[in-house]
Amino acid sequence: MDDAADDLVLPHGAIAPAGGALAGRHLVLGLTGGIACYKVAELARLLIKAGATVQVAMTDAATRFITPLTMQALTGRPVFVDEWTSQGGNGMAHIDLSRQADGIIVAPASADFMARVAHGMANDLLSTLCLARDCPLAMVPAMNRQMWSNPATQRNAAQLRADDIAIWGPDSGDQACGEVGDGRMLEPEAIRDAVIAWFTPKVLQGKRVVITAGPTFEPIDPVRGITNRSSGKMGYAIARAAANAGADVTLISGPTALPAPWGVRRIDVETAQQMREAVQAVLLTPDRARSVFIAVAAVADWRPASAANEKIKRSDDPAPTLAFVENPDILREVAHGPNPPYCVGFAAETNDLDTYAAEKRARKRVPLLVGNLGHLTFGKDDNEIVLFDDAGRHPLPRGDKASLARILIGEIAHRLAASASPSSP
Ligand code: CTP
Repeated sequence: MDDAADDLVLPHGAIAPAGGALAGRHLVLGLTGGIACYKVAELARLLIKAGATVQVAMTDAATRFITPLTMQALTGRPVFVDEWTSQGGNGMAHIDLSRQADGIIVAPASADFMARVAHGMANDLLSTLCLARDCPLAMVPAMNRQMWSNPATQRNAAQLRADDIAIWGPDSGDQACGEVGDGRMLEPEAIRDAVIAWFTPKVLQGKRVVITAGPTFEPIDPVRGITNRSSGKMGYAIARAAANAGADVTLISGPTALPAPWGVRRIDVETAQQMREAVQAVLLTPDRARSVFIAVAAVADWRPASAANEKIKRSDDPAPTLAFVENPDILREVAHGPNPPYCVGFAAETNDLDTYAAEKRARKRVPLLVGNLGHLTFGKDDNEIVLFDDAGRHPLPRGDKASLARILIGEIAHRLAASASPSSP
């Protein structure tokens, strides 16, 4: 079978593999004993959905919390539990598994397991596999807060980091033991995002990226307002892709129902004016000219001239009429300001995309404008976009917003690198 058949040829000529962010990756997912094992069933599903193949290995203690059969059913592969059972090949599961893997993720990683790996012990299959590996290893700790803060665990965590083993989390919050504090395992979505970030080339390392996303909400009175149908999904996907590519990301978001992507700093705003103030404050830094500003938000063009301080009551009077004033154009202001960052605009149109996009790109003075037919994409998980730049129009194949966001980040990184190279015109 030709795996490359569905790969995408990007506008600048590079190839993006088809499929999810983890397409073609073979991961070993190691489970050790802890109540957080129940969350790893969902993690396995998320990793597979992102395109990875997942081979599970469990310690004996882990099998007390979730059955190998459950993990086998979810991954479609027999689960490895001990080093004495030959499951094909040369009978040396620890060598075979680590040879085939692109990465090993131990989740949950118990205090005991971290201690054993920190000391180079190999007294069960999973620890042997970790010692015999020639691929990256990540641990996702899960334990009671006192076990986590114990100096011995902290010493072991420091040793693991020094040995180039990634440690993701732990989270803080309610624990299964009834206590509250540090030690909770990261949620499956956050672990999936960390795995994706782990494998993403760091094409924006050292860059600051500021992104606006979502709708704005312009109040009429304390309970009513004017907004639009933007869900924020595209802007959040771009923020996640930029963070995965190594950028320092600030997401300035209007009201959405979405959680902040892992590793992204989010500033919540409501109105266009608040969004403008937040953007200006964040971009008020000496490295402004080396930053990237991506305006994805659907900013209201107008706001009610004056918002009532009290709820407007229904009465026998005629229905109220609203007077509007224009909102600031945030993208235009940034792009026309001193030392502008590299600016990327979006244009959601219902018709005549090419004409409006070209006009908008010139009016706002942005090197790159992303056009889409907005009424088809609001709130949806996939999108169809066209990139407009000095060289013309570059349509991208229809795809889910996460894939398109990754491609867009690659395109931006490529343009930044080209404009920084001495041979560029
Ligand atoms: N934008 C902005 N501030 C505004 C309006 C728009 O920063 N007040 C940004 C959007 O985030 C987007 C781009 O400008 O990146 C284009 O937005 P759009 O609403 O399509 O453009 P408008 O200039 O408002 O043009 P029109 O509504 O007439 O299509």
